[in-house]
Amino acid sequence: MKPEKIWLSSPHMGGNEQKFIEKAFEENWIAPLGPNVTGFEEDLQKYLGEDSYVSVLSSGTAAIHLGLIHLGVGLGDEVICQTFTFSASANPIVYLGATPVFVDSEEETWNMCPIALEEAIKSRIEKGKKPKAIIAVHLYGMPFKVDEILQVAQKYDIPVLEDSAEALGSTYKKQKCGTFGTISILSFNGNKIITTSGGGALVTKQKEIKEKTIFLATQARDNAPHYQHSHIGYNYRMSNICAGIGRGQMEVLDLHVEKRRAMHQFYSDFFASNSEISILKEPNSDFYSNHWLSAIILPNYATREALRLAFEKENIETRPLWKPMHLQPVFKECLFFGKNTAEQLFEKGLCLPSGSNLEEDNKERITEVIRCFF
Ligand SMILES: Cc1ncc(COP(=O)(O)O)c(C=O)c1O
Repeated sequence: MKPEKIWLSSPHMGGNEQKFIEKAFEENWIAPLGPNVTGFEEDLQKYLGEDSYVSVLSSGTAAIHLGLIHLGVGLGDEVICQTFTFSASANPIVYLGATPVFVDSEEETWNMCPIALEEAIKSRIEKGKKPKAIIAVHLYGMPFKVDEILQVAQKYDIPVLEDSAEALGSTYKKQKCGTFGTISILSFNGNKIITTSGGGALVTKQKEIKEKTIFLATQARDNAPHYQHSHIGYNYRMSNICAGIGRGQMEVLDLHVEKRRAMHQFYSDFFASNSEISILKEPNSDFYSNHWLSAIILPNYATREALRLAFEKENIETRPLWKPMHLQPVFKECLFFGKNTAEQLFEKGLCLPSGSNLEEDNKERITEVIRCFF
């Protein structure tokens, strides 16, 4: 009989989530609005800072889609996007009839390289195609080089959409991730540091953008007694049930960050004496990662794949690092600026089980596989 599955990152309830849901049932707020939606938004605003305006939505992808609309992205535009990311960062560019231009990573944070970013911007401006926006991602919870990226963006006056889907609880120079972009987004997908089963949020410093987000996310209904529409709308609002889970999860967010960071420390200590493995770590004290996923680099593709299969045999889920977007068949026609950093990370990298709910016996099973392997 197979041992119980150890997941890469599974939902971890705090205990009070169901109380918020029960209340929604008692009051019959079974809708994409209600006290949990407002309450979850308030909780997030309080957490991120009172100058943040948050709208909770059906997914992080929906938040990127609406974020790009706010930034004026439309048919024929180009949008720069970190290549080393999940496809959801890039797909909404295409929903709008725009084209992604992909940019490589640097080796310290594995996120967007500011030098390659500037090269891409200059090159596109020379061709008369100034990019409309930049999507930079805090991958695996590690903040990107915020100062450098924002400096380049400001130099060319291009807004940044900060994809903080994986980085709620991370900070850069003590400021929370999710507050750096002209628009920022969060995800509460089932595997994230806190979850609403599925969901996301758009964060902005402008009240009018929050209002417009809610307007677009609820089918863009004009102010009229009948149903009247002057804009194309979307059905992107978060339900009051999911938001109830979110309110319960906010009570344990700090604890989840602590536990994920402890998991990362556990792996760092374990691999300290293994010269064949390096682990993604904060470059200096400006960076504070929630360590959503702990990720390691192995000497080559063959070793990475063999280790992944050794885990799989023991019913332990691991995952290769994201395959860069410029190498995805669906984006093969798109431009790419940089070298082969993201490609190398993909070939040699593996994400290890990182959940805040992993127990001692899980850790023992994980380390046993690694010990036997090496
Ligand atoms: C980097 C990144 N961006 C965007 C998303 C999209 O979020 P969602 O799954 O909530 O649509 C995710 C996660 O799924 C992600 O990891």
